[in-house]
Amino acid sequence: MKVLGIESSCDETSAAVIEDGTSLLSNVVATSLDLHAQFGGVVPEIAARSHIEYITPVIEQSLEQAGCDWPDIDAIAVTRGPGLGGSLLVGTLAARTLAILKNKPLYGINHVQAHVAAAFIEPNKPTFPLLALIVSGGHSQLVYFKSFFDYKLLGQTQDDAVGEAFDKVAKILGLPYPGGPSIGKEALEGNRLAYKFPKAKLEGKYDFSFSGLKTAVLRAAQAEIGEDYSFPSHKLSECLSEAQKADFAASFEHIAVETLLDKLTSAAEEYSPAWIVIAGGVAANQYLRTTAEERLSTPVIYPEFKLCTDNGAMIAAAGYFAHQENQTTVDPFALEIQPSLSM
Ligand code: KG4
Ligand code: ZN
Repeated sequence: MKVLGIESSCDETSAAVIEDGTSLLSNVVATSLDLHAQFGGVVPEIAARSHIEYITPVIEQSLEQAGCDWPDIDAIAVTRGPGLGGSLLVGTLAARTLAILKNKPLYGINHVQAHVAAAFIEPNKPTFPLLALIVSGGHSQLVYFKSFFDYKLLGQTQDDAVGEAFDKVAKILGLPYPGGPSIGKEALEGNRLAYKFPKAKLEGKYDFSFSGLKTAVLRAAQAEIGEDYSFPSHKLSECLSEAQKADFAASFEHIAVETLLDKLTSAAEEYSPAWIVIAGGVAANQYLRTTAEERLSTPVIYPEFKLCTDNGAMIAAAGYFAHQENQTTVDPFALEIQPSLSM
């Protein structure tokens, strides 16, 4: 079974073809990231306009690279939420139109859940039950999956997502957007124990909070230079030495990773899953991967690096699960976006 997946929830326009849920035939990604970098974050209007420009060529190329014509495609899967409204509208409208014109079944997919489906793409072969840590720019969630659609949300962030904290701390330190990769690189030169940042204490034992950590970095940076330049301000980062920036990046990354792994380790002890999946943009973080290997006794699997950040392949893989687990298809005339869709 071949599924065409379409993703447009944030700043990546992507389409992919997957055969039988795990064999990747194509994955085309166009990103407007460079256009947002100068603003230090995604500008929704710019993202939506870029999707309009990219969506048709990206879908065409994904079919071409997969060596497929329309008769070869058995279903279309598209992100219906969560995400930016204007961005979601472009992908869903394209998918709805194609489902009607080409007469294909259509699946509306939850983007956050789909990050986990990326971990099933070859050569990976995890099995259920699995525990997933989904960490991206918009989400930090811990979910126990008995099957792809039979899951229990154990905890989630109460404020900023962990990727968002990476992005904001990078901004404080004057490092380029997106913050995850730049913090990761900067941290390699720093001392992880130079600054002692707090771990948030929360009522829900598997919930997260990263807003306080970001503020703690800001306060420590202000104290270090003896000026309370507020955020966002270029002045603050200009006063920090390269060594200080590296130490801040390393100490922040250390606590962020420890916090994620503390919860993941306790949940693994409580639920005894067969596999642990770490997915979403932050799963590309090398320090997280190395530390997870050291701390977890359950086998851990990650999507391939290029499938950690947003892509159409994960949507196509989730579409295959939807078919396998008898989820109902959506009416292409009626599919609505759900910008605040939760799991
Ligand atoms: O999954 P994703 O592409 O988009 C969302 O669904 O949000 O994740 C993007 C997030 C950004 O916050 C980015 O800074 C973070 O993933 N990220 C990383 C790394 N690569 C991307 N965070 C830490 N380390 C990385 N290597
Ligand atoms: Zn994502």
